[in-house]
Amino acid sequence: MDYDLIVIGGGPGGYVAAITGAKNGLKTLLIEADQLGGTCLNRGCIPTKALLFCSEKYFEAKNSAELGVIADVQPFQYEKAFAHKEKTIKRLRAGVAFLVKQSGGTVLQGQAEILDSNKIRVGNETFGFGNLILATGAVPAPYPFEVGEGARLVNSDGFLALKEIPESCLVIGGGVIGLEFATILSRIGRKVVVLEAFDRILPTMDAELGKIVRKEMESQGIVFQTKTFVDRVFQNNNETVCEIHSGDQKSTLAVDLVICAVGRIANTEGLHPERVGLAMRKSFIDVDDRCATNVPHIYAIGDLNGYRMLAHAASYQGRKVAENIVRGTNRSILNAAVPACVYTDPELASVGLTEDEAKEKNLNVKIGRLEALGNGKMLSMGRKTGMAKILSNAATGEILGAQIATPHATDMIAELTLAMGLEATVNELAETIHPHPTISEMIMDAACQ
Ligand code: NAI
Repeated sequence: MDYDLIVIGGGPGGYVAAITGAKNGLKTLLIEADQLGGTCLNRGCIPTKALLFCSEKYFEAKNSAELGVIADVQPFQYEKAFAHKEKTIKRLRAGVAFLVKQSGGTVLQGQAEILDSNKIRVGNETFGFGNLILATGAVPAPYPFEVGEGARLVNSDGFLALKEIPESCLVIGGGVIGLEFATILSRIGRKVVVLEAFDRILPTMDAELGKIVRKEMESQGIVFQTKTFVDRVFQNNNETVCEIHSGDQKSTLAVDLVICAVGRIANTEGLHPERVGLAMRKSFIDVDDRCATNVPHIYAIGDLNGYRMLAHAASYQGRKVAENIVRGTNRSILNAAVPACVYTDPELASVGLTEDEAKEKNLNVKIGRLEALGNGKMLSMGRKTGMAKILSNAATGEILGAQIATPHATDMIAELTLAMGLEATVNELAETIHPHPTISEMIMDAACQ
């Protein structure tokens, strides 16, 4: 059978592309090998946020004596949090299936492979396409060290599938996934060490954000070792042992569980991009700023093209590619401002340029920076650590980037993303009345600096 649009991969990139296409009259087929919702819903953002929420409640119940909450708290019941996570996933997954159906699209379960520049195959069935959107996402990068038999070692997929969490945990990788998992573990009372190869955690984000969150996480008992590499992980009786090195210094660490989060690579397994000669960039499928590959009518969106490995970036790309197809336009997609969030404590959020990036580009930048010390909402919540920073063009006032480290930073970054999208100036932000008392006043106050 032939379709105007075939989408391979039912994650937040693929399902949004399929819904947009189908709603706008394209005969659309969405093919998913596993579960609708992709990594984000089944093995990523949503399960992690569900566990973060449970662990936050537990931590607050145990650590709010100063606020008058003296609770007799029992050990954390991980199985309850696991059940909450599963329930959340199930509900959202049903929502995705409903939305695709409601849009008029068809969902097919199966593993799709590219046959040629007009056809794909799923099992024994062949389907023709007018346009093909590839949205098969990413998978955890392979372990970059030797692994002995029986080692208690998991990647992010394995961690989120665990029903019990042992006492001591080692997290390899001080990136986004590593820090969110370390936050969950430490809040529920586990001993946590985080190893990072780079000289600072969150090396791809503004350096100050990493510093703030490291200090806060250390105060909760998490131990960080930077410039540290793992050579081998093996099992020795009941312990999992990591042989590590930092410079010339070799040592070992013995824990109950090792969690590896050292990045993700594109998932092209079984897809056969080589059959149509799709250009690649490392493991990713290469695209132009419209997410178009080098083969006409074939697009690659989301983690698969590797430009911004974030669920909301994938959804945006999916919607915009489908709109370009429907309208016959060639609008640029990859140049939109994309916010990035880390759900640690405090939360971190960023959009646009960092200070280092602005320096590298030799831009004449004005930086409005503010600590949270005078924010009434933060202090009334018993919180002191926080920072907001806005970078703007010193001559024109155009907002170039922003970084926030506060509770609810991940909700507040949308305002700055909108401001950048509308090409607002920092003065316009400063003159916008923000409700009092809120943490969002920090954005207005940083803009006034
Ligand atoms: P990442 O690239 O954020 O971090 C990996 C970290 O591991 C880096 O700091 C790197 O220097 C370090 N590393 C690499 N090799 C190492 C080694 N051999 N030993 C020790 N450290 C090593 O990748 P991560 O955390 O796996 O996340 C993957 C993707 O998923 C990212 O693009 C991230 O943005 C996305 N994601 C987004 C989330 C969010 O929006 N809140 C949550 C989780 C993931």
